[in-house]
Order: sequence, then C-alpha cells, then structure tokens
Amino acid sequence: MKITPMIRNNICLNAHPAGCARDVEEQVRRVLAKTANASSSKVLAAGDKAAAAAQSKTPRHALVIGCSSGYGLASRIVAAFGYGASTLGISFEREPSATKTGSPGWYANRAFDGLAAERNLAAKSYSVDAFSKEAKRLAIEEARAGGYAYDLVIYSLASPVRVDPKTGIMYRSVIKPIGKSYSGTTADPFTGKLGQASVEPASVQEVVETIKVMGGEDWELWIDALAEAGVLEAGALSVAYSYIGPPLSHPIYKDGTIGKAKEDLERAARALNARHAGLGLGAYVSINKAVVTRSSAVIPIIPLYISALFKVMKEDGSHEDCLDQMMRLFSDRLYTGTGRPVAVDAQGRIRLDELEMRDSVQNKVLELMGRINQETLPELTDLDGFKADFLRVHGFGIPGVDYQVDMDPFS
Ligand SMILES: NC(=O)c1ccc[n+]([C@@H]2O[C@H](COP(=O)([O-])OP(=O)(O)OC[C@H]3O[C@@H](n4cnc5c(N)ncnc54)[C@H](O)[C@@H]3O)[C@@H](O)[C@H]2O)c1
Repeated sequence: MKITPMIRNNICLNAHPAGCARDVEEQVRRVLAKTANASSSKVLAAGDKAAAAAQSKTPRHALVIGCSSGYGLASRIVAAFGYGASTLGISFEREPSATKTGSPGWYANRAFDGLAAERNLAAKSYSVDAFSKEAKRLAIEEARAGGYAYDLVIYSLASPVRVDPKTGIMYRSVIKPIGKSYSGTTADPFTGKLGQASVEPASVQEVVETIKVMGGEDWELWIDALAEAGVLEAGALSVAYSYIGPPLSHPIYKDGTIGKAKEDLERAARALNARHAGLGLGAYVSINKAVVTRSSAVIPIIPLYISALFKVMKEDGSHEDCLDQMMRLFSDRLYTGTGRPVAVDAQGRIRLDELEMRDSVQNKVLELMGRINQETLPELTDLDGFKADFLRVHGFGIPGVDYQVDMDPFS
C-alpha cells in the first residue's frame, strides 16, 4: 500500500517505514560528521575506547528510557554514535500489522539497532511499558548478562497514561491550566488556520494524576531499582528532560498541570542525589528548547509560539533541533573532559534553553506574535517548518524517500 499521513485532531496516526528509517540514518550521519570534524573536540569517534578511557569520563553503557523519538532518540544516537556507548533502549511501540503501520518508534528502533550493529556498537531495544516492573527487570537482566553497569540513564518519557506498578491503578496526564481557564490563539499547522483555544482549569485530581504520570516517581523507581540490583555504576549520570518556556505559555505549561509534574521531577533529582550520594550519582533535570515532536501540535498556543520562535531562531542562525540540543548536552554539559562539575543554574538544573530564552529572541517573538493575523501568519511565522518537522517525526516528507512506492508496513 502507499502510505500517506493520516492526521486527525493534530495527531498523526501512522508512520512511513522507509521515512522513519531514513530520519534515523540522517541523525546518525550528522553525529558521525560532527565527530569526524571534531577530532580535537570532546565528541569521540564511535568505538574509540582508548580515547574514551583517556578522557576523564564518557558514557560507556547508556540506558535510554523513551528511546524511540524526540529527545530520547537523539540522546541515544549521540551516546552510541558520538561516544561509542552500548545502549539499551526502552520504549512502548505499536507493531505493524498487515493493514496498519507500526508507530514511528517501532521503525526508528529497528533502524537504530541495524545501524549500531553495522558499526559493532552493542544496542538492544525493548518495546515494553517503562512504568512497569517488567521494564526494570529487563534492563537489570541485560546489564547482568552483559557484565556491565549503566553509567548513563536518560529519562525521556512523554506519556498520557501510567499504571502504578504497585497498585495497578491507571493515571492520566492532562495539559491544563490551574486555578483559572486559559484562552489563547492557536495555529493549526495542517490547515494554516488561526483559532482560539480555551481550556478549563484542571481539577485537583487531574493535577495529582499528571504528577503521577509525568513527575519524578517513576524515574526514582528506575534509579532505585538499578542501584539496588548493583547495575548502576559509581559516579553514574542520569538526566530527565523538562521545559519552562516564555511567560506567554506559563498559564498552560509551567504554571499548569504539566509544570507541576516537572517541579516534581526536580524534587526527584534532589531526592535521588541525596539517596545515592554514596554511589556519587549525578541526577539532573535538563531544561531543553522547544522543538516539534509527536505531541507538540496538541498543546494550545505552542504551535504558534514554536512557529514564531523557529522564524526568529532560523533567521538569527541559532535554531537547534533535538539532535543539536543533545550533542550540546553531551559535549558542553555532561562530558566536557575538563573534570569540572556539570554546569547548572541556581536551582541545580542544566539549561539548554538559554538560546531560546535570550531577550533578543523572546522580544522579537512577542513582537511577531502581536502582529499575527490570518493574512500575516505565513510571512511572520515558520508554520511550514513546524509542519515539516511534525511530518518528519512520522517519516513523511523526508528527502530521498519515494512515497509513491507501495510499502509493506513490515518492510
Ligand atoms: N518537545 C519539546 O519541545 C520538549 C522540550 C523540552 C523538554 N521536553 C521533554 O522531553 C521529554 C521527551 O519528550 P519528547 O518531546 O522527546 O517526546 P516524544 O513523544 O518524541 O518521545 C517520548 C518517548 O517516550 C516513549 N514512551 C511513552 N510512553 C511510554 C511508556 N509507557 N513506556 C515506554 N516508553 C514510553 C515513546 O515511545 C517515545 O520514545 C519529555 O519529558 C518532555 O517534556 C520536550
């Protein structure tokens, strides 16, 4: 069958097998190119174990929870192809059937594992619910069987639901304001139409549930389980990802339900560092830049904000995607080779959003957003860039892929 994007309510329901694979290949190519161009830099050639050992510290065995797309996939690609780390990837994927494609991550994981094998990099991907005890057991067994301990644990989940492994109760996360309703202008990247979106405030129960799903509890369960099983290396690093964004998005993001969950992630980082001080664990929350991933199109105001942001950052040459951000996280924050502590802000967080949050960028974004109407939208924003990134995440619109060719969802 020919596979074309099936988009409903700003969610893409399918994925293109060859496109998803090509997207991973392209990210790997970029990391390898950067590595080759940076022989004197901190990014090491894949598999160059001697150079790795000579540096104060580089990742050797990475566990990536939420490995199949967005920030998690980019982290995994940098760890493996930039530093030669073995990677165990955990994500929850929909398998293809004769009539339906798999999830984008199903194809991405397969492509990643194949490319890693070509370069003799140890890599395994498990499709399993990361919130379950089973996922933790698998990761522990893998390490024990391989005779290693994880020195890097990336926690990059974005999930609408979580089943508490202790009680079996299912919790749902929502993206809602707290205290009062929120209305804002939003842009539909697929129709190019502006509209007003209004979201009612969350109930107390919804706040609690969002923290249960997207907060730090599961991250703590992971680290505690790995440490208890003796498969967390002394001095290991663990990073969970977060976002703050500009004041205009605070009512729906930072000060809303998801912001409360992200605060809990910061609490978890402090708790983990205290609990595993004996092991010398370094658990960090990294505040990353706004990028387009699978769920970006469903949050009110965010598509419009990102489109204006991309316009400004592409024009001033500072635009970054997930992979650019993760290359910077590894080389300029986690593995600088200087022996200095990881650079953090006053709250102990890694900041990769400093370019997005510069006054020069934010003032320009605000100025553009003040002038946007249906007519000026295409010229004042990069809505096309938003749409292209969104389609790319699902394997569509990728140069070099022939979308006219019939494809088997299993291929
Ligand atoms: N997208 C942004 O602009 C942005 C900005 C800053 C921080 N972040 C944060 O980065 C993190 C990752 O977000 P993303 O945008 O890369 O999302 P994404 O949707 O691209 O990736 C989420 C990953 O989680 C996996 N996943 C979801 N539920 C799972 C489950 N139950 N078990 C196993 N795997 C599961 C998915 O398979 C996927 O690999 C989130 O914490 C998000 O808040 C995102």
